[in-house]
Amino acid sequence: MKKAPKIIITVLVVLGLGWLFFGPAKQIGYAPDQPFAYSHLTHAGKYQIDCQYCHSTVSYSKSAGIPGVNVCMNCHRAVLGLSGTAKKDANKRIMDLYSNYWEKKKAPEWVRIHNMPDHVRFSHAPHIKALLKPGQESKTACIRCHGDVAQMEVVSQVESLNMGFCLNCHREYEKDGGRTNCGACHH
Ligand code: HEC
Ligand code: HEC
Ligand code: HEC
Ligand code: HEC
Ligand code: HEC
Repeated sequence: MKKAPKIIITVLVVLGLGWLFFGPAKQIGYAPDQPFAYSHLTHAGKYQIDCQYCHSTVSYSKSAGIPGVNVCMNCHRAVLGLSGTAKKDANKRIMDLYSNYWEKKKAPEWVRIHNMPDHVRFSHAPHIKALLKPGQESKTACIRCHGDVAQMEVVSQVESLNMGFCLNCHREYEKDGGRTNCGACHH
């Protein structure tokens, strides 16, 4: 009986340390089921469509943006000939995209994968400007925080995106504006 409080404290300390060390990194490997099976491997990998073709606001705003079905249809109405007999042969998933989303004027409700807590300030624009050298493919910048998405059939989070991760790079780029004072990233 006398030992009970000690055990409780030990358990709490272990849980606390566990949370500190493993808690913040729990998002690594997070790859939720999506309402529609979209493949980065096919589009950004095999067909080398540039990331910014779809994530078109990434270089000048906070958010990278998720493309609407209209962007998909720039290609899938024409490239894969969704008319006449071709329509029958078209990939089942593209037909799904066409009839269950495009024709019904709705977008898949994508489940968000990467998320910053509210107390952290983050914007894509300054990062893309600082990390992307002229003439480089967009993905050379994205890889630093998202891994090689062009090789992913299903996107998953590969970096912890925790404070240490951010700070490491801010130190590396200190002379290019990577700041390490608390106010740089916290409100
Ligand atoms: C043809 C359009 C298209 C291209 C090209 C494309 N993406 Fe995407 N991207 C999407 C769509 C649609 C989603 C939402 C579905 C999903 O998560 O797979 C998405 C999701 C993502 C996400 C996850 C966002 C979240 O919820 O956190 C990341 C990261 C991402 N893309 C990075 C990239 C990178 C890096 C490239 C270039 C190598 C790229 N994308 C090229 C359409 C595209
Ligand atoms: C720049 C042109 C282009 C855009 C934009 C585009 N696609 Fe594709 N898509 C292709 C090509 C090319 C293929 C490969 C066809 C093949 O291999 O026969 C393809 C294949 C597919 C397939 C079936 C094969 C697979 O591997 O998944 C689906 C489903 C698909 N796209 C969905 C989408 C969605 C959803 C979007 C919008 C977020 C989109 N596409 C945007 C060109 C495009
Ligand atoms: C310095 C790290 C970093 C780089 C570089 C980066 N991202 Fe992100 N990305 C993040 C973080 C952090 C989030 C979550 C942001 C939030 O919750 O506000 C995110 C979220 C996203 C999302 C989800 C939707 C959105 O608009 O926030 C997409 C899509 C995405 N990134 C695509 C890209 C693409 C494409 C590139 C390269 C052109 C890129 N990112 C470069 C860190 C980065
Ligand atoms: C791969 C390197 C790298 C990573 C990783 C990185 N940053 Fe940065 N960040 C930079 C650089 C370089 C700048 C300076 C850009 C400038 O001054 O133009 C910057 C600037 C910033 C700024 C200031 C933007 C402004 O308004 O001037 C904030 C806020 C920020 N980063 C937050 C974060 C957060 C939060 C993370 C982690 C999720 C992160 N960064 C990860 C390289 C990185
Ligand atoms: C380069 C960006 C960056 C800088 C600079 C930075 N932080 Fe953070 N901080 C973050 C990110 C990102 C998280 C969220 C980590 C996560 O969700 O795992 C965080 C989380 C935290 C938390 C944990 C809050 C919680 O319970 O989730 C505290 C406390 C904190 N920061 C304090 C500080 C202090 C104090 C400084 C200055 C010495 C500082 N930070 C500088 C990016 C930064």
